[in-house]
Amino acid sequence: MSTVPATLHERLKLFSQTSTVRFWSRLDEAERLQLVTELESVDLKQLQEIWQSSQKKTNEGLSTAERIQKASAPKTVIRQAKSPEDVASWQATLELGESELRDGKVAVVTVAGGQGTRLGFDHPKGMFPIGPISDRTLFQIFAEQIQARRQRYGASLLWLIMTSDATHAETVDFFESKQYFGLPTDSVAFFMQGSLPALDAATGEILLSGPGSLALSPDGHGGLIMALRNSGLLDRMTQEGVDHVFYHQVDNPTVIIADPALIGFHLQQKSMLTTNVVCKTSPTERMGVLVDVDGHTEIIEYSELTPEQAASHDATGQWIFWAGNTAIHVFDRKFLQRLAEDGCRLPLHIARKNVPYLDASGQFMQPSDASNPNAIKLERFIFDALPLAERTLIVEGNRDREFNPVKNKSGADSAETARAALNRIATEWLKESGHSLPEGHAIEISPLQALDAAELKQKLASGKVLISEITAPA
Ligand code: UTP
Repeated sequence: MSTVPATLHERLKLFSQTSTVRFWSRLDEAERLQLVTELESVDLKQLQEIWQSSQKKTNEGLSTAERIQKASAPKTVIRQAKSPEDVASWQATLELGESELRDGKVAVVTVAGGQGTRLGFDHPKGMFPIGPISDRTLFQIFAEQIQARRQRYGASLLWLIMTSDATHAETVDFFESKQYFGLPTDSVAFFMQGSLPALDAATGEILLSGPGSLALSPDGHGGLIMALRNSGLLDRMTQEGVDHVFYHQVDNPTVIIADPALIGFHLQQKSMLTTNVVCKTSPTERMGVLVDVDGHTEIIEYSELTPEQAASHDATGQWIFWAGNTAIHVFDRKFLQRLAEDGCRLPLHIARKNVPYLDASGQFMQPSDASNPNAIKLERFIFDALPLAERTLIVEGNRDREFNPVKNKSGADSAETARAALNRIATEWLKESGHSLPEGHAIEISPLQALDAAELKQKLASGKVLISEITAPA
């Protein structure tokens, strides 16, 4: 391949992307092949449309403003149980979810393809040590929860882990080095999401990360649907009788994996996509919110709201934008399948970010001016599936118990706050079991020791778990 293949070159010219092959003469045969493969996987027409629409800020602003203006607090929400009747109804629904788990009708999806730039950890985020005493990793906590549920319900529970080019090899090696944390290897499947190129924010040209490689990054958690289809895992779920897909993100160590109550409500209400929400702590908290717009549920991102809009109330005095998205969902497997069969590509969102690149002279540049990022990055978001579902459901979770993500290096939503939450939850369980934490001690309960306060109580009483096994000097 001494020259760029003619049809590819024509296509690049048509969409003003010939700069991607400017270092062609420097590449060896294998590098040329690699570059051609990368370019052929890119939808140049779509990129051009996206870039053009990114230049029309006013139009975009208007439609966002309209959505915000039409938004109301979600009407159909199952709130946390307060009255004894609510508690009884939650318990009955939880039992319904448990029976689905017992019948092996549930699979778990963990999305773990993100680059975790805010945390600044040099490995896939799932390998981050978070256990307050043991330093067990996020992946280990999830693996132990899955193992504990398999044991509790005597059933299989397929675990699907979405990785990306950035996280795949290291994630798989990590699981192998840990012998899959004792899970049957055929019950854990890794599948890779796609990637999308970053564009030069000034020209719309695709950026290069090297002379023969495009600056690619994972296509967002919304890449899930096509990645599930392309990996054959949607078919596998069908063959194995999975009806409900429990979805969560890799960064929340306190998520209740395969939450039987959430699955129960999902089933009971015949929902296609159920979302766990929590009440935002303040209007300006950086969390997307679920709202109703024109009769369907959708998410408005925090960045789309001005502080005044974020704090607005409806006629009943309720905050309109209260229902924070925890990114814990239950999907109806058939709904995912329908989206995949329709070739559903969720919309692309644009983010202006700094992306390292090779400039025209072949010099590697690392832009850092946060006020004027050099690139446009593109991502799909899984919550864009919400308006595509005929029936959705919102269930309010218990924030302190279920939502303590590790996003940032320090401050809010950091490792420090997540570790403190694990410690606090375990302390509460110990208290409910009639014990108190020895002074100056930390506590950590493995999901294999107990999945909830009731199990801890019973295991402490029978001597299956000892206080000395779960506490250590802080
Ligand atoms: P975030 O939006 O928090 O992104 O992802 P991130 O990459 O982890 O972190 P930052 O923004 O770079 O700091 C939320 C969840 O979605 C997954 C992440 O792994 C995390 O579980 N995700 C995100 C993917 O699986 N793929 C993606 O392309 C993006």
